[in-house]
Amino acid sequence: MKRRVAILISGRGSNMAALIRAAAAADYPAEIALVISNRPDAGGLKKAAASGIATTTIESKSFNNDRSAFEAVLQSTLDQHRIDLICLAGFMRLFTAEFVQRWYGRMLNIHPSLLPAFPGLEPQAQALRAGVKISGATVHFVIPQTDAGPILMQGAVAVHDDDTAEALAARILEIEHRIYPAALRLVAGGQMRFEGGIWKTSADAAPAVLISPAVS
Ligand code: GAR
Repeated sequence: MKRRVAILISGRGSNMAALIRAAAAADYPAEIALVISNRPDAGGLKKAAASGIATTTIESKSFNNDRSAFEAVLQSTLDQHRIDLICLAGFMRLFTAEFVQRWYGRMLNIHPSLLPAFPGLEPQAQALRAGVKISGATVHFVIPQTDAGPILMQGAVAVHDDDTAEALAARILEIEHRIYPAALRLVAGGQMRFEGGIWKTSADAAPAVLISPAVS
């Protein structure tokens, strides 16, 4: 039985599109059952509909700052669609601790930095300011703290001396589109295990070493 996934978006939805593409494969252990946006103008909604995925908007603005009321509608929508797993994909809204606890171990997020470095806004600009030579993206389970939680998968890119935040973001985004579907495959396929507070996998270890700047 494929796990039923809801993807939550707020914007263009390029990670959402990568997840939808991956889940189209017959052997993928999850199906994208629903895309939910908290903004009616999110570009990802059209992309999802064009792929034949059910979409709905729960406009967070109309709940003012009442997170619990927003989450009550969200939860009943997830229940109606018998959702097993949530993937946050550029969903720019915080949850109450109660909602996060309810979905603990069943809600994934992707963030464009090598967490725990650079959580929060503009992580690529944060990385440039810090002068790190390697950055990347992280898929993790969601906990109440923003952009934190048990790590499932990471991908790295070299940071160049002449990088702009936009150029770095574009290279990291390519990594995001690879690791989010791969991490969801491991989680939905039951290939991750929790050991000593850390998520581990029986999948192959990564072969690559990345040194930046390059050494001969
Ligand atoms: C992605 O880079 C994602 O990692 C980031 O928002 C972007 C959404 O792009 N998420 C965060 O920063 C979460 N803190 P997308 O809508 O094209 O997937």
